[in-house]
Amino acid sequence: MTKRTALPRALPAPPRRIAVLGAGGFVGSHLVPLLASRPGLQLLAVDRALDKLELGLQQLPAAAASRVRRLEADISDPGLIDLATREADVVISLTALCNPALYNTRPLAVIDASFGDLLPLVKLCARRRRWLVHFSTCEVYGHRALDSAGRPTRVMVEDETSLSLGPVSRERWSYAAAKQLLERVIWAHGRHEGLPFTIVRPFNVIGPRMDFIPGVDGEGIPRVLASFMHALMTGAPLRLVDGGRQRRSFLDIAELVGAVARLLERPEAAQGEILNLGNPKNDVTIRGLARALIAAYRGLRPDAPAPRTETVRAEAFYGAGYDDSMVRIPSIAKATRLLGWRPRRALDEMLPAIVADYLARYESAVSGSVRPARRAVVAGMGQGRGGR
Ligand code: UGA
Repeated sequence: MTKRTALPRALPAPPRRIAVLGAGGFVGSHLVPLLASRPGLQLLAVDRALDKLELGLQQLPAAAASRVRRLEADISDPGLIDLATREADVVISLTALCNPALYNTRPLAVIDASFGDLLPLVKLCARRRRWLVHFSTCEVYGHRALDSAGRPTRVMVEDETSLSLGPVSRERWSYAAAKQLLERVIWAHGRHEGLPFTIVRPFNVIGPRMDFIPGVDGEGIPRVLASFMHALMTGAPLRLVDGGRQRRSFLDIAELVGAVARLLERPEAAQGEILNLGNPKNDVTIRGLARALIAAYRGLRPDAPAPRTETVRAEAFYGAGYDDSMVRIPSIAKATRLLGWRPRRALDEMLPAIVADYLARYESAVSGSVRPARRAVVAGMGQGRGGR
């Protein structure tokens, strides 16, 4: 019998036409400009409001910005998913209601935004063989890192760690449960229906343009960075939920979008994978974050009154049904191995530029001397169903 040499498998080519759904949110407003700066790529950027993205695109040469076709639309608008999957080789899905203050106050909207609204996208990507790069969340790991037998471990590992959420009455986990179910649907379409996919689990990414400032371009409680910035700019105490002993590992937005650009260049490595993207070296308590942010703020506003902190009880702050992750440290061994990606920026290095961005965009509006920029009706700003 003649020996058969296996033919080399055709490797998938890096995509050139990219659709970004939720492009007007914090992550999209950094990711789209980075991708647009690469000659040869064409982008379709979709969100209900694109103001933040415009701020990001302003920093690009006109030729690069012209690679981005902007479309103000909702993911559930008739024909939108059809358009995105027809016109692009890869769809990056960023839409979500990813603000913990909503998980126990608007759980049905949160579940729709993270699951129901996205099911048609997954199915159409599978049918048309479009690469779906889906932003899930580190929240899927739940309270803390547990191995597959339920024993505590230090870091959260994509294909090993148990996903351990609280009881149904703890509505905090409505978001994580919806995100986890969508991950399972995507995974199953990948294994059984041929969907090319990559699932990204970002860990507490921070940077300019994150979330909103209450009373200026949104209402309610934003995530911790914007919440603390709001307090600093108004002279109110920074509120530490249950004393701020919870820990988070913070990643610079520029490093997150750098990792996404890398994975798009390496479809053969990234497809079929779930990837944590975070910075385990920036693991800090929320009290520690408050301290570091106060120091960065005082560096820029040395004459402002000394900021204060105060402890608030979680249920008084967020309402009944809130719960929390006490420690959340990613393993990034897989992202390093597959993408050659290693985040380097320490928290203290990131904060001055972030504080400066909030001051430039909000300080006068917060002090009441200037009319705020267009209010976030919706989305893309952490309040509505827009980009993360
Ligand atoms: C949230 C989302 O649920 C995740 O999906 C998302 O991946 C993650 O943010 C992220 O930014 O990447 P969480 O870290 O709990 O998760 O969100 P934050 O609202 O930023 O809260 C972080 C911690 O700060 C929590 O323990 C919270 O109780 C505390 N906090 C928040 C305060 O102590 N004071 C505040 O004013 C706000």
